[in-house]
Amino acid sequence: MSALTHLLDTKSLSRDSALAILDVAEDMSDTQQREIKKLPTLRGKTVVNLFFEDSTRTRISFEAASKRLSADVINFSAKGSSVSKGESLQDTAQTLQALGADAVVIRHGASGAPRTLAASGWISAGVINAGDGTHEHPTQALLDAFTIRKRLHGGASRGRDLDGIAVTIVGDVLHSRVARSNVWLLNTLGAEVTLVAPPTLVPQDVSAWPVRIEYDLDAAIAAAPDALMMLRIQLERMRDAFFPNEREYTRMWGLDDSRLAALPLGTMVMHPGPMNRGLEISSAAADSARSTVLEQVSNGVAVRMAALYLLLAGDREGER
Ligand code: NCD
Repeated sequence: MSALTHLLDTKSLSRDSALAILDVAEDMSDTQQREIKKLPTLRGKTVVNLFFEDSTRTRISFEAASKRLSADVINFSAKGSSVSKGESLQDTAQTLQALGADAVVIRHGASGAPRTLAASGWISAGVINAGDGTHEHPTQALLDAFTIRKRLHGGASRGRDLDGIAVTIVGDVLHSRVARSNVWLLNTLGAEVTLVAPPTLVPQDVSAWPVRIEYDLDAAIAAAPDALMMLRIQLERMRDAFFPNEREYTRMWGLDDSRLAALPLGTMVMHPGPMNRGLEISSAAADSARSTVLEQVSNGVAVRMAALYLLLAGDREGER
């Protein structure tokens, strides 16, 4: 049996499974420091990147991770495919099954699409959720946790959880699958999570989340969290006016240069990308030594290598 059947969310991911992925990612990250980065581990396996929503970073990251493990990669983007002619998820999935896909990495605008695919019986492949609607984006949260652990503990990260670490997530929580996946994973790993957002961008069901809510970014910064995670304002998901205008948003909720100056020295600045520079984060903040933005990208490859390895290295027989 493979160690991981699917990776659909972090809400149901146990502490042990999360730490296993993070620790394997440490090993993968070590191999990426070598001159020859490619491992033979998944030779003969086929990974399909099935992207129904735009993505640069995540798709490239999964592609790099698959190739570094010597898997064959098929990139399937829904635009220009038969999906735009109305082909159903079932037909697409059955086509992938007939092609011999061992893993399907799916990004979809509908929350729950990866779970539907995994539970359908249409495919025997392992399914990884690469972002579904406003629901979850588990590999993003795992790479964020990996990045926090690595910044804080360096080479001594293996086996550690995030007990007692304070993480403050700022911005468009309402539309953010990154925020949701981070809240569940960080909580499972023992971190204390604070959300800072305009009241209009706080989800209604937040009372059931293991978080503290704060509306004053300056107070949240003064509390000296270990990590300050800025979220992208997801204008493409906004049909209503959630804040008066962009300038007002930046004044109230943006990490601008004066807030950067006020940020306690030990606080790292994170952003999942793509960034709206000048809106939720200033260029000085994004490019500062506190920023982990590029570390997040390179750690993302190691974390996705780990997820693919744990999904595919064992025998998947009978996991359908
Ligand atoms: C995120 C996503 O698509 O959910 N980006 C990413 O995966 N790097 C966050 C975002 O789009 O703001």
